[in-house]
Amino acid sequence: MGAKIRNYQPGEERALYDICLLTGDSGVDASGLYQDPALLGEVYVGPYLRFAPDHALVGVDDEGVAGYVLGVPDTVAFEATCERSWWPDLRARYPLDSFPPDSPDGRIVRLIHNPPVASPDVVERYPAHLHIDLLPRLQGQGAGRRLLTALLDGLAAAGAPGIHLGVSTANQRAIGFYRRMGFTEVQTYTHSLVMARAL
Ligand SMILES: CC(C)(COP(=O)(O)OP(=O)(O)OC[C@H]1O[C@@H](n2cnc3c(N)ncnc32)[C@H](O)[C@@H]1OP(=O)(O)O)[C@@H](O)C(=O)NCCC(=O)NCCS
Repeated sequence: MGAKIRNYQPGEERALYDICLLTGDSGVDASGLYQDPALLGEVYVGPYLRFAPDHALVGVDDEGVAGYVLGVPDTVAFEATCERSWWPDLRARYPLDSFPPDSPDGRIVRLIHNPPVASPDVVERYPAHLHIDLLPRLQGQGAGRRLLTALLDGLAAAGAPGIHLGVSTANQRAIGFYRRMGFTEVQTYTHSLVMARAL
């Protein structure tokens, strides 16, 4: 039996933060890299659950929640909401000197204090964005396709005309998956790509 796909439910935050960490090093376990196990989730999971719970879906198997896809229909509006209502508390909890500046934790803390902004030409055509992460036990069985398809349907129904995402060039597996799912490269950086598709 394949995993069940359903909406995220309140109370599952911790499970999703853990999945984020366990896939946070270009698709593989990042728990050896970070001193603070919640830091990645505070950036890549928490605000999506808080501000866009309708577009948070999980894959559940016999052992529990094993994957998620998170998205927002309007990245510019989401960035503004985070600036107002998510980053201030995190900045207070994680001052800039919380960790050595060039450590993995330190780099995430810098990001909390100076979050990247999606480029205007990308969000004009592809205003939505997403994150998808599955534990190894759920990978390679079609759950990624099912989760992503459900997310794209929901974002299209919410009126978004297109969607983008960021992926590390070290994560060739994910890049192959996104291509297969209809995404193409729209921006290339040294260590990452932005990929996008119409909805
Ligand atoms: C990347 C990830 C989301 C893909 O999900 P998945 O469940 O493993 O992928 P699926 O089994 O649903 O594959 C969907 C389709 O993509 C294809 N595909 C998957 N990976 C591929 C690859 N590297 N190259 C080409 N095609 C690929 C599959 O063959 C399948 O094709 P089909 O449905 O047309 O037969 C999942 O492996 C994952 O979470 N990895 C770890 C975390 C991660 O890297 N997240 C992305 C961070 S940007």
